[in-house]
Amino acid sequence: MNGTEIRKKYLEYFNSREHAIIPSAPIIPENDPTTLFTSSGMQPLLPYLLGSPHPKGARLVNSQKCFRAEDIEEIGDNRHTTCFEMLGNWSLGDYFKKEQLNWIFDFFTKEVGLSPEKLYVTVFAGEEKYGIPKDNEAVLIWKELFKKVGIDAKDIFIGSEEDGGKTGMQGGRIFYYNSKKNWWSRSGVPENMPAGEPGGPDSEVFYDFGTPHDKSFGENCHPNCDCGRFMEIGNSVFMEYVKEADGSFSTLPQKNVDFGGGLERIAAASLGGADIFGTDLFKPIIESIEKLSQKKYQGGLVKDDSAFRIIADHMKGAVFMMSGGILPANTEQGYVLRRLIRRAVRYADLLGLKENELQKTVDSISLIYKDVYPEIQEKIEYIREGVKNEEVKFRKTLEVGMRQFEKIKSEGISGHEAFLLFTTYGFPIELTLELAKEKELSVDLDGFKAEMEKHKILSKSQSDQKFKGGLADHGEMAVKYHTATHLLQKALIEILGNHVAQKGSNITGERLRFDFSHNQKMTDEEKKKVEDLVNQKIKEALPVSYEDIPLVEAEKRGAIRLFEEKYGDVVRVYKVGDFSLEFCGGPHVKNTSELGNFKITKEEAVSSGVRRIKAILT
Ligand code: ALA
Repeated sequence: MNGTEIRKKYLEYFNSREHAIIPSAPIIPENDPTTLFTSSGMQPLLPYLLGSPHPKGARLVNSQKCFRAEDIEEIGDNRHTTCFEMLGNWSLGDYFKKEQLNWIFDFFTKEVGLSPEKLYVTVFAGEEKYGIPKDNEAVLIWKELFKKVGIDAKDIFIGSEEDGGKTGMQGGRIFYYNSKKNWWSRSGVPENMPAGEPGGPDSEVFYDFGTPHDKSFGENCHPNCDCGRFMEIGNSVFMEYVKEADGSFSTLPQKNVDFGGGLERIAAASLGGADIFGTDLFKPIIESIEKLSQKKYQGGLVKDDSAFRIIADHMKGAVFMMSGGILPANTEQGYVLRRLIRRAVRYADLLGLKENELQKTVDSISLIYKDVYPEIQEKIEYIREGVKNEEVKFRKTLEVGMRQFEKIKSEGISGHEAFLLFTTYGFPIELTLELAKEKELSVDLDGFKAEMEKHKILSKSQSDQKFKGGLADHGEMAVKYHTATHLLQKALIEILGNHVAQKGSNITGERLRFDFSHNQKMTDEEKKKVEDLVNQKIKEALPVSYEDIPLVEAEKRGAIRLFEEKYGDVVRVYKVGDFSLEFCGGPHVKNTSELGNFKITKEEAVSSGVRRIKAILT
């Protein structure tokens, strides 16, 4: 089965087991100050995993567009991508381990048709420090499932990844790993989780492609080895714990299941080649690059193919982002987008694509997703233009970088110089190596790697910081800003007119940012009127409440809905007194009197016909 068929089958499979199909949330989160991108299917569902009832019930399924910026430099092998689709199913306090593992095994083996012989599973080894036991329950379920298909599944204790390299497979089928591998929360291992975050042990399914082991990844192969033989195709998280303020763990009031499986990887397993770039979800992009470069892609575990993969991955990520309204910029999502396009340009140069040809790959991406993400086709001109403009800008920077490179007079390029070329001028190390070779200069590659490591650790601690601050905000300021955003939108409609529609929203613990359609700059008088109206509604101490109602009724009642969102039959609407009624999943304050004083700090243009307001609560 190819990816398109698997996506459809998966939704049907869980839908026929009473799971409501929910749409993919936007790749740029709307009301989540803690992160730049939606990086897993569970992320938009966080409030529901913590206990708030979901309007569509306790069983959900979807295919979620995801983006993981931290993976940018890892791309190039047979299985990593920055952007991917995650098939997800959830139990919000409904079924648990037995049903989940039964269904997922059944889905993989019977529906997708993967041979059970090729499947290996991992389970949580336990964490004494937190009093969380080894997952014997999952092991018993797996043994039973394998037994039914004639496999005597032996369980083997591994512990860490390094231990796995020492001990190897040992004839096992079920492997215990510690929290680095078999515990899941948005922040990773238990130690990194902020108070209030849910998490739990998980059980992963790996597909064995049977390729020879590469000893540079460790003496022996095992499911979590990185040599490329095994690919993780699914992860069932048993989300039943929450971190407490004192650092301990307690159980959540409800036991949840959070399953995530990379669609591209499942497709690779089904098609049998150890390469996600050979599936229908990437192949058209690869073919488009082949045509433009007149070079042949080989596929599988071939390392020389990394340029093809980097371009295909980065262009897909760029297209997903731009179809969500992002343009290249120097901050936040726009900066990540900029990096994607610039890296793609460099690798396109290495493969011999001509200037401004990169934008031609956009069509192949639109084609892959024409039925599931039609917004790409709708914005195709805008996306092509965006790629082209960024390439032109980058080439100017490159020229400066080349001059910088020419200035390097010494015999060799130090690690620091290579690092600066990389960070300041966007030279991938491959380009530096190639230019150095032409000029018969040496490059201190180890020094470069050491600088990169330092940089990585720095940016990781920065992002951890952002997250920790963020989640605390989630319960306090961010919720207030979220309610204030509803008041603002309604006030803008009242003062400026019915043409005002939300084009984007972003909240941090310090401010709200709201983009909306409107053609002119707002006058000082208009701004004052909007501010006054919001503050009046705050003073009126309006109650905030929600209702789950059929879509048609919500529309009849004139609820404000987000532009390109798709909604299911029953929707949640939030009411602020009789003032505002809006499609929304929450969370919100209980009463507008909690908000304090509302003040617009900035009003500016974002693009033609779209204005942006930044505002604070004091
Ligand atoms: N949320 C889990 C993951 O991302 C399923 O792997």
